[in-house]
Amino acid sequence: MSQSDRKSTPMLEIGDLHVSYGQVDAVRGVSLSLNAGQIISVIGPNGAGKTTLLAAAMGLLPSKGVLRFEGEDLHGLDVESRVERGLCLVPEKRELFGELTVLDNLQLGAYSKRLSGAALRQRLDWVYERFPRLAERRSQRANTLSGGERQMLAVGRALMSQPRLLMLDEPSLGLAPLIVRDILTIVRKLRDDGVSILLVEQNARAALESSDEGYVLETGEIALHGRSESLASDPRVQATYLGGATHDDD
Ligand SMILES: Nc1ncnc2c1ncn2[C@@H]1O[C@H](COP(=O)(O)OP(=O)(O)OP(=O)(O)O)[C@@H](O)[C@H]1O
Ligand SMILES: [Mg+2]
Repeated sequence: MSQSDRKSTPMLEIGDLHVSYGQVDAVRGVSLSLNAGQIISVIGPNGAGKTTLLAAAMGLLPSKGVLRFEGEDLHGLDVESRVERGLCLVPEKRELFGELTVLDNLQLGAYSKRLSGAALRQRLDWVYERFPRLAERRSQRANTLSGGERQMLAVGRALMSQPRLLMLDEPSLGLAPLIVRDILTIVRKLRDDGVSILLVEQNARAALESSDEGYVLETGEIALHGRSESLASDPRVQATYLGGATHDDD
């Protein structure tokens, strides 16, 4: 794909998307575009509709509006078909198999790709290279991991499906700032491996530091959109999401 093709066809195209829970409209006319190789963040407060937006993109919830992956309409494709196309979601609740080991959890992540034998081992090595901590703890049960390790496992498991677009729902949730930094550093490096990222975060500072562009979602609608560094210096974003000018999590 040439540079100009990439520009003309976004990897993920969301247009005037609506998602409802019965009478409650949780996502109301959201438009968002992500090009291959980009890291895009969506920030916003509790209840803004961030998780709902990702769930709809993944096919876990029905939606109305434009929803395309590499030009293909996603409506009508079930979750498994979307995973086959290269989409993957790391959910807000990590949803690991607590009684199973790190290795078992990772292997289950490759299930949709039906990897086995040498291909499976190769992919495991690939994940272990990026998360050496998981390699050290491969025989440990998931429910005995620390919070940071669990998040690494959730991301590692998603990577086993060889996604081209990884959607992360609040990877920083419940983690200390240093661990958040570690995880986001790994996430940023995934771009070099050809993985694009849609990053949903309440931690606006970390998200804007890690992304190319950001969207501010408020009560189901996009309130602001721009280059991440412009958003980070926008007084409205600073006042509401960055705690004024203070660096409270440094
Ligand atoms: N299963 C559900 N049934 C009814 N309403 C729901 C359901 N799930 C979410 N909602 C509502 O939809 C809105 C958006 O919720 P959502 O979980 O997408 O927000 P969020 O931005 O991810 O919030 P948080 O930062 O707290 O995770 C909220 O008003 C929420 O109460
Ligand atoms: Mg959420």
